[in-house]
Amino acid sequence: MKNLETKLGRAVFRNPLFGCSGCVGHAYELAPYTDLSQYGGLSLKTVTYLPRVGNPADRICEVTAGCISSVGLPNKGPDDYFANVVPKALNVLDPDQAIVSVAGDCVEEYVELCERVQDLFGNRIAAIELNAACPNASHGIGYFSRDAKAASELIHAAKSSVDLPILYKFNTNFENYLEVGKAVSDAGVDAIFTTSTPMGIKIDIKTKKPVLGNTIGPACGPAVLPFGMLRIWNLYKEVEVPLIASGGAASWRDVIEYMLAGASAVGIGSAHFATPDIVPGILADLKEYMEREKLDSLTGLIGAAHR
Ligand SMILES: Cc1cc2nc3c(=O)[nH]c(=O)nc-3n(C[C@H](O)[C@H](O)[C@H](O)COP(=O)(O)O)c2cc1C
Repeated sequence: MKNLETKLGRAVFRNPLFGCSGCVGHAYELAPYTDLSQYGGLSLKTVTYLPRVGNPADRICEVTAGCISSVGLPNKGPDDYFANVVPKALNVLDPDQAIVSVAGDCVEEYVELCERVQDLFGNRIAAIELNAACPNASHGIGYFSRDAKAASELIHAAKSSVDLPILYKFNTNFENYLEVGKAVSDAGVDAIFTTSTPMGIKIDIKTKKPVLGNTIGPACGPAVLPFGMLRIWNLYKEVEVPLIASGGAASWRDVIEYMLAGASAVGIGSAHFATPDIVPGILADLKEYMEREKLDSLTGLIGAAHR
């Protein structure tokens, strides 16, 4: 009997394949194109404390081996999100799969969003994801990803205000990402979700101008896989809590490699844009891999490359 269950702190997911926030819509848009029951977890598009118009077009463009994007978290704000978006998402997801992703400008804004999520949907979702990789109006981009003290305060505050498991998603491209990872691990976060997306630029050789309205944006897709792998490799040695990898994963081989480096689960992001039905195929391939390797569970692979 194969067991794909994946424990991330207090949360247990049916398998280690996650849909990354921003790449799977609000789940209900993706539902007609794939079988959502095959996802271990699925993070809804991040909602921010205040409505945001997002960045000017173009917001995304293809580059060799992936894309660069600068979307800027457009959303109508929490009132609309909680009234219209989350209920529709929960119609197509089971409670053990649904993850609500929130972002604020300060600890208080994150906490208020967490409390509202718990009050409204506490028994219908698996976890809250704190998006710490987002723009921060007061302190510049990725403040809660690059300031260990702020990140630790954020986890302490979120944990003392809600009972739901807390995932911390951060940008690992700051030099001190290991210090920050250690701080949130010590603060008792349930799991750390990485996004290993270095900034890139694409210039249109006809217009001779940058393609993105915001000029630059994080690169994602296959090009970033080895960078993401190294972040997981290093974090695994530093932190005590489970890791969810994201950055370039698009096949069962990438998932196994991330697990060997130290990930307990793997997020599939921009690979959905070309192949919306990608996750059920990866899950089937993982099961075949387990059959070939005579494995009942994938747990023994986590961090195995370190041993
Ligand atoms: C168009 C786009 C929108 C995204 N929006 C969000 C978001 O709202 N919240 C978030 O935490 N990450 C967001 N991300 C980051 C992804 O969730 C993921 O971490 C990243 O794309 C790396 O994974 P990949 O290489 O598999 O795409 C976004 C990525 C893309 C490409």
